Amino acid sequence: QDPEAQSMLEAHEWLTKLYSHMLRNSKEGKQALQYMLDRGFTEEIIREYQIGFSPTSPSFVVTFLEKKGYHPQTMVKAGLLNVNDKGDYSDRFRGRIMFPLRNHLGKTVAFAGRSLGDQQPKYLNSPETDLFQKGRLLFNFDLARSAIRKTKTIILFEGYADVIAARQAGVENGVATMGTSISEIQAQLIDRYAEQAIICYDGDEAGMNAAAKAAKLLKLTGCQINVARLPEGMDPDDYIKKHGGDRFKKEVIDASDPYTSFIINYLRRNYNLQLEGDRIAYIEKVLQEVAQLDRAIEREHYLKEVAADFDISMETLKDEVDQLKKRVP
Ligand code: GTP
Ligand code: MN
Ligand code: MN
Ligand code: MN
Ligand code: MN
Repeated sequence: QDPEAQSMLEAHEWLTKLYSHMLRNSKEGKQALQYMLDRGFTEEIIREYQIGFSPTSPSFVVTFLEKKGYHPQTMVKAGLLNVNDKGDYSDRFRGRIMFPLRNHLGKTVAFAGRSLGDQQPKYLNSPETDLFQKGRLLFNFDLARSAIRKTKTIILFEGYADVIAARQAGVENGVATMGTSISEIQAQLIDRYAEQAIICYDGDEAGMNAAAKAAKLLKLTGCQINVARLPEGMDPDDYIKKHGGDRFKKEVIDASDPYTSFIINYLRRNYNLQLEGDRIAYIEKVLQEVAQLDRAIEREHYLKEVAADFDISMETLKDEVDQLKKRVP
C-alpha cells in the first residue's frame, strides 16, 4: 500500500484511541461523557464503539499528530486537519462527541462528530478522502456481518445512535448509511449478504420519505424488503430507550410491514380518496404494485383489501391485474 494512505490510516487509528481516552478519562471530556450516559449509552458500549471526545482547543490534534511525525498536509488530505489560506493548520473536529467510522475490515477511515448542544451542524463528518467514500461504506458493517450471515437479515437505520442503541439492546444486525440516502453500491452490498432487509427509519416525514426511496432501490436487488413503523416523532434509539429492546424487537422489527403493504399505505398520502378521480388513480397505482407480485396468494391478499375498502368485486380487480401483468415485460 502507498505510504501516504498508510499514514492516513495510522493517524485515524491514533486519533480513535486519543479521542476515546479524552471522553473516558479527561476532565474536559466529562460533560460529553455525562451526555452519553444520560442518553442511556453504557460505558461498555462506549468502549466497544470507541466513542470519543475532541477537545475544544484548535490545535490539540495538530500538536499530537506533529509529535507523531505526520506531515500536516497529509493530515489535511485525511480530513483530520483544516488549513487556511495563510497556511495555518487547525483541528477539524472540536468539542464534539466522536464516532469512529470503520470500514468493513474494522479500520477507522473517518469520523462523525456530534455537537453537544444545539450547535450546528449536529453531525460533522470527515470529508470524502482516499480512505473514505460515504456511498461505499455502511456504518457498523464490520461488527454486524456475522449476525447478518446468521439471520440472513440486515436492519437499515438512519442514524449511528440508532445502530448503537440497537446493539446495546441485543439487535446486532443493524447498519446505517452516512446520513445520506442509500447508494446503489450499498444496496448491492446489502443484497450480497442478506436475503431480507428491514428498513427502520425515523418516525417522521423525512424518515418516511427516505424509507420509501430506500425500499424502492433495495427492491431492485431482489432482496425481500420490510419497512418498520415507529411512533410519530420517535426514532429507533428513542424507542429502545423508552420501551426497551424486547418491545423494540417484537413491536417494531417483527411487526414491520412487507414491502407491498408499506407502499400501498405510503401511496395513499398523495390522494384525496373522497374524490372519485383520485380514488381511481390510487386504485390503479395499487394494482400496479400488486401485479408485480409473483405469487397468486399474495396478490389475492391485497386485492381482498382493495375490494373491501372500495367495494369493488374481486372478479373486476383480478381482471385488471391480469391486464397489467400482460403488460409487465
Ligand atoms: P441523535 O440526535 O444523536 O440521536 O442523532 P440521529 O441519528 O437521531 O440524527 P437524525 O435523525 O437527525 O439524523 C440521522 C442521521 O443523519 C445522523 O445519524 C447523521 O448520519 C445524519 N445527520 C444528521 N444531522 C446531520 C448534519 O447536520 N450533518 C450531516 N453531515 N449529517 C447529519
Ligand atoms: Mn439477497
Ligand atoms: Mn431523522
Ligand atoms: Mn434520528
Ligand atoms: Mn436520535
